[in-house]
Amino acid sequence: MEIKSVIMAAGKGTRMKSETPKVLHKIFEKPLLGYILDNVKNLTDENFVIVGHHADEVKAFVDKNYKNSKCVLQSPQLGTGHAVSMVCPYLENFEGQVFILNGDIPLITESTLKKFIEFHNANNSDLTVMSTIFENPTNYGRIIRDENGNFKAIVEEKDTTDDEKKVKEVNAGIYLVNWAKIKSAFSHLKSNNAQGEYYLTDIVEWGKKQNLNVFAYILENSDEIFGINSRKHLAEAARIMNERKLEELMDNGVTIVDTSNTWISEDTEIGQDTIIYPFTYIEGKNKIGKNCKIGPCAHLRGDVEIQDNCKIGNFVEVKKARIGHNTNAGHLSYIGDSELGSYVNIGAGTITANFDPISRTKNKTVLKDHVKIGSNTVLVAPVEVGEGTNVGAGSVITKNIGEWTLALTRAPLRIIEGWVKKKN
Ligand code: UD1
Ligand code: CA
Repeated sequence: MEIKSVIMAAGKGTRMKSETPKVLHKIFEKPLLGYILDNVKNLTDENFVIVGHHADEVKAFVDKNYKNSKCVLQSPQLGTGHAVSMVCPYLENFEGQVFILNGDIPLITESTLKKFIEFHNANNSDLTVMSTIFENPTNYGRIIRDENGNFKAIVEEKDTTDDEKKVKEVNAGIYLVNWAKIKSAFSHLKSNNAQGEYYLTDIVEWGKKQNLNVFAYILENSDEIFGINSRKHLAEAARIMNERKLEELMDNGVTIVDTSNTWISEDTEIGQDTIIYPFTYIEGKNKIGKNCKIGPCAHLRGDVEIQDNCKIGNFVEVKKARIGHNTNAGHLSYIGDSELGSYVNIGAGTITANFDPISRTKNKTVLKDHVKIGSNTVLVAPVEVGEGTNVGAGSVITKNIGEWTLALTRAPLRIIEGWVKKKN
């Protein structure tokens, strides 16, 4: 069945205390909204993102990165029910399912969302809500069940009675609905609650009244639905995401020397027997081969591909680069917008000067196989160094150099014997 999604991203995120809209706050340089869109992209045919607060910024991010997603403006923002109702005009005759997700839950995984869809279909459900058990359920909407344990309603924290406050099963903010059956709920929502908002969560009671099949799917790993409302939550989510990634890598045969001081983004693949030394920070999408040594204190900034048996050592920053096998950059270097062949050696303190501040463009450095770059070299891009060529230490390379050549720029060394003594 066709599935479309609605992702709610219009809220201000007051508790973040920020000029940046909440859903554009980042973990590993990827906005929270990007995590949700990446997790639904293989499951849905089209996504609607509800934008409102700083709509232009959010829309720019979505339009640039997610081609099958459309932003729909919600202004003013009158609550989550009001947010979803913004898509009604686009889905008048839609017969499929609609996935509805809060935009602030970056830890949810594609495999959980898949299981959720399977549960919905297996139970012939019309409306399924994802729930989980929290020891401290404060601030979340509570799942209220009747005496037979059947799901009855969701009550927001601010509207709960004392008894309801004790309920530990909470609403995750993820819903799947059979659109044709649920769509008329949106014209019946009322805002007579503690926050004066149109709550999406009220569609549960409405559905029950219409005798629709309404279910809650209880998620065991409650980490996944951790919602970001503050900077503390942002740091906590980053920690959980990182821990999850390091475990996955270790299970696949990667050594992480110090799990408490290594950061590796979800979108990084690493081959077997590679060792990641402490204080390494890897963000964005990267692919690292087998038997590599990365760090300590290496920074990979995304779009980096490193083949097998390479070493990226202390204080080496790499961005947008392809690095062939058996290549080393051991110390204090910057490699950006570059293509390095195999068996290349990069001496300490080598810089690819990739940015031209006049044209404001980034330029490419190409080093062919077996190139040896002496320490403290600046490669002023665009520049290409041919196979086997050696560059002398301290050089500034501004022109292409052919194969098996020695290139060096060096002011003659002057030695003036006894000069210091004469001066004193
Ligand atoms: C919501 C749920 C709550 C659930 C919790 C899970 C409602 C009424 N409550 O509460 O039951 O336990 O999520 O994290 O839905 N948004 C809009 N437009 C608006 C208001 C909000 O797009 O007018 C967006 C926000 O940007 C956010 C999402 O909806 O991405 C959720 O809003 P938020 O205010 O964070 O809801 P919670 O109070 O967390
Ligand atoms: Ca929230």
